[in-house]
Amino acid sequence: MPPIPVLRTPKELRTWRSRALSSRLALTPTMGALHDGHLSLIRHARTCVDIVLASIFVNPTQFGPNEDFHAYPRDEARDLALLADAGCDAVYAPLAASMYPLGFDTTVSVANLAAPLEGAFRPHHFAGVATVVAKLLIQASPDCAVFGEKDYQQLQVIRRMALDLDLHVEILGAPIVREADGLALSSRNVYLSPSERAIAPALYAALATAARSLAEGERIAIVEQIACDSVVAAGFESVDYLEVRHPASLKRLSPGPLKEEARILTAARLGRTRLIDNIAATKRPARADA
Ligand code: PAJ
Repeated sequence: MPPIPVLRTPKELRTWRSRALSSRLALTPTMGALHDGHLSLIRHARTCVDIVLASIFVNPTQFGPNEDFHAYPRDEARDLALLADAGCDAVYAPLAASMYPLGFDTTVSVANLAAPLEGAFRPHHFAGVATVVAKLLIQASPDCAVFGEKDYQQLQVIRRMALDLDLHVEILGAPIVREADGLALSSRNVYLSPSERAIAPALYAALATAARSLAEGERIAIVEQIACDSVVAAGFESVDYLEVRHPASLKRLSPGPLKEEARILTAARLGRTRLIDNIAATKRPARADA
């Protein structure tokens, strides 16, 4: 198999794109350290376009000063081999200096969707994400871009940003890929010690139980409290948030029983690792004979 083309600058990307302007292109942005969750996005993209471009860029502006930008796992050779195997057509792996040249002074920020949940704990995170994703979308000019529901709030922020900035790109969400025990795949799972790895699936177990309780008509406030307590009881240090929210606006819902569809989103700390996860929740329809 010939090596997968790797484009290093916006100019190289433009030249590559101009050769295939009549093909439908999907972009799947990543920060590398790829796992099956990332590769599922490539497969998802493949079903609706002619060519798939993945990007690998560990974006410094979305990490806080005390976060893991320098420690973030990086292995480009391994990532390129995985992407080639998954049927990706090219990889955009820009140098930091070509994404943020000297004097770079523009930020894209989404106001309300980015404020709660992750935004409350990582204040500049979504401005960094929205800025880099806007740049990637403008540079590659894809017909669609695929993001994982793993980062559910990120997906909603990017949808809003693409709509508000008239980027004319379809933003697609792909389901979360999990380990057999329920833990959502994440590049940061490598930080977990064996004993933490054994505790980690409790986060998804709490979400799954919460979704079942909501379907059965339990009150939102009670469900959130029980789920939070069970995550701490399993061995997590703390829960940053575990909340039932509107699936599109991410607004809080009234504390009573679920009346519509919702998303339960959480972030919790296990040792030095912060894990995030989420699940859909729906009210079970009343039985016709009830
Ligand atoms: P990264 O964490 O590398 O994730 C890249 C994409 O893979 C995101 O859309 C994310 O939601 C998706 N993903 C990660 N784990 C997944 C899983 N278990 N199942 C399904 N999809 C999964 O998210 C980012 O990078 C960055 O913020 C980025 C959008 C690239 C901007 O820098």
